[in-house]
Amino acid sequence: MNTSTPTQVDPDKLMQFGFRAVDEAGAALNCALVVMGDRLGYYRSLVEHGPSTPAEMAERTGTDEHYAREWLNAQTAGAFVEYHPATGRYRLPAEQAVALTDETSPAFVGGLFQIAHGTASDAGRVFEAARAGVGVAWGDHNSDVHVGCERFFRPTYAAHLVDDWIPSLDGVVEKLRSGARVADVGCGHGASTLLMAEGFPASTFVGVDGHAESIEVARERNGMPGAVSFQTAAADAFAGGPYDLVTMFDCLHDMGDPIGAARHVREVIAEDGTWMVVEPAAGDRVEDNLNPIGRAYYGFSTLLCTPSSLAQPVGTALGTQAGPARIRDVVTAAGFRRFRLAAQTPFNNVFEVRP
Ligand SMILES: C[S@@+](CC[C@H](N)C(=O)[O-])C[C@H]1O[C@@H](n2cnc3c(N)ncnc32)[C@H](O)[C@@H]1O
Repeated sequence: MNTSTPTQVDPDKLMQFGFRAVDEAGAALNCALVVMGDRLGYYRSLVEHGPSTPAEMAERTGTDEHYAREWLNAQTAGAFVEYHPATGRYRLPAEQAVALTDETSPAFVGGLFQIAHGTASDAGRVFEAARAGVGVAWGDHNSDVHVGCERFFRPTYAAHLVDDWIPSLDGVVEKLRSGARVADVGCGHGASTLLMAEGFPASTFVGVDGHAESIEVARERNGMPGAVSFQTAAADAFAGGPYDLVTMFDCLHDMGDPIGAARHVREVIAEDGTWMVVEPAAGDRVEDNLNPIGRAYYGFSTLLCTPSSLAQPVGTALGTQAGPARIRDVVTAAGFRRFRLAAQTPFNNVFEVRP
């Protein structure tokens, strides 16, 4: 017998939700439109040439005017671009110009849209995987996921890794300045590995990733072959050691067996070594993460990170919003005894883990 109370639908609230849903659908389409503007050079053209008509922007970017006009109107309706009816010109405000074209700025969002677009493009495979109870491997995604990931994270690493995050770890700067051995596990295209190597030229670095194509890209980028090498290996089996510093950037929760990886780190880390675990900013409870950042990360968790973990042996699926308590459980299960939150940004928690 159904004993639930019939729910009364409030027509005003229904109408409000309808409007919000239209806005959400516009935002979903905007993800592809931002990637279009990035790839076709629309944003860069508006930055270089200032307020432009659709015909001018199309001519300068070598694209069809019809697409340029509709794209500009969509961008204007979403407040990414401004339209001046008196001149018929469209302008990219200064703040949007930084966020959409300056890859050196920590405010750059082009990579975020690219990885989101790449992730959404592969969603059909995730729907099937959810039915079958299997995963979708990181390496099985399209290149917008891999390239977008690097472009999303690199500006933050450039702004914080050497200047804030490593100094927040006890005694690590001194070791790296005098010459230490570092393993950067789950390094992807190697952006974090190479930034650390530039910051600490007396130390040696090995970047490790299970995705062979990412390691190929990292090797191509490596301008310091004497100090930096890259290895295709799983986090629970990489070679070398003892390491004075092991780092993991936004990858522990992607792994199938994070405790297995943590046990391996425990085996290869020096007795006075440090493991820096950078994870997406999150609290321990669902209700701590019900905000715009949590929303984006729960989306990535559903469509990208959880499927990645489920595609590997064990398939723990910590989730992108695992939170400090679950990360502490993982590292203590592997025998690490010291764990603290060393630094934070709006997007990242930086943990210091020690034997
Ligand atoms: C979200 S990406 C982060 C890449 C890079 N650390 C960054 O911050 O740009 C996650 C990375 O973890 C790697 N990964 C996932 N599971 C792994 C495992 N078990 N062993 C090694 N690498 C793994 C993936 O191949 C991918 O490159």
